[in-house]
Amino acid sequence: MTIPVELLQRLAGAKSVTVLTGAGVSAESGVPTFRDALTGLWAKFSPEELATPDAFRRNPRLVWEWYQWRRKLVAGAEPNPAHLALAELATLFPRFHLITQNVDGLHQRAGSWNVIELHGNITRTKCSDEGTIVSAWKDTGNVPPKCPACGALLRPDVVWFGEPMPAPEMRQAMTASTHCDFFFSIGTSTVVYPAAALPSEALRSGATVVEINPQPTPFTPQAHFALAGVAGVVLPELVKALKACRRA
Ligand code: APR
Repeated sequence: MTIPVELLQRLAGAKSVTVLTGAGVSAESGVPTFRDALTGLWAKFSPEELATPDAFRRNPRLVWEWYQWRRKLVAGAEPNPAHLALAELATLFPRFHLITQNVDGLHQRAGSWNVIELHGNITRTKCSDEGTIVSAWKDTGNVPPKCPACGALLRPDVVWFGEPMPAPEMRQAMTASTHCDFFFSIGTSTVVYPAAALPSEALRSGATVVEINPQPTPFTPQAHFALAGVAGVVLPELVKALKACRRA
C-alpha cells in the first residue's frame, strides 16, 4: 500500500494528531469483533441478551460467564502491528490522542498511554452498585462474585447497550477531535453514535481526516484520504513513510 505523498507532506508538519479506533484494529490480533463474539456456544444469544443492564439483572451468571470467556480470549491475544504502529506514531508528534471503542486493552499492552476508552475495558471489574473499580475479591463460589465493600454483584467495567458513555472520556474525545490538525478513523464501521460523530466533528473543525478500513463506511466519502487496507499493513507503512519523509 503506497501512502499518498500529499498526505505524508501534510502529516509531516502536523502538531496535533488524534486517532479513533474500532474493532477492526484488533481483528488481526484474532480478537473477535463484538458481533463475532456472539458465535459458537453464544450464538443463540443476541447482544441485547448479554450486553445490557437488563440482561445482567435477569441473568447475572450468564452475563458474567460470557465476559469471563471473552476475557480469556483477550488475554490470549497479542497486540498486532497496527497497535504497535500507533504506539510509535504517538512519539512522532508534540500532541497525540488515542480514542478507542475497543474494550480489549490491547492498545495499552502495545505501549500506548492515556488511551481514551469510550466503552470501558473488559479486563477491569467494577461494583454494579457503587461503580468503583474492584481489582481483588474473595472467591466465595458466588458467580458473579460480590463487591467486598458493599456485597453488590461485580460486573465488567464496560459500557452496555442502553448505558450512557462515560462523560469525562466523551468530553476528552470531543476536545481531542475538534482541536487537532489530523484525525485518523481506523477500523470502525462509523455507525455507532456518539463515537461515530467524532470524524465529522474533526472534519468540521478543519482537521485533515484519514480513514483506514478495507471496506467503505458511511464516512468514507467525506474523508480527505481513504486508505483501503488493513490497519496491520497500512499503519506500519504510514509510520515508515512518515519518518522517511521527515528525513528527506
Ligand atoms: N483493519 C482495519 N479495519 C478493519 C479490519 C482491519 N484488519 N478488519 C475489519 N475492519 C473494519 C471493518 O470493515 C468494519 O468497518 O473494522 C470495522 C469493524 O466494525 P464493527 O465491528 O462495527 O466495530 P466498531 O466500529 O468498533 O463498533 C462500534 O459497536 O459493536 C459495538 O460497542 C461495540 O465498540 C463497538 C461499537
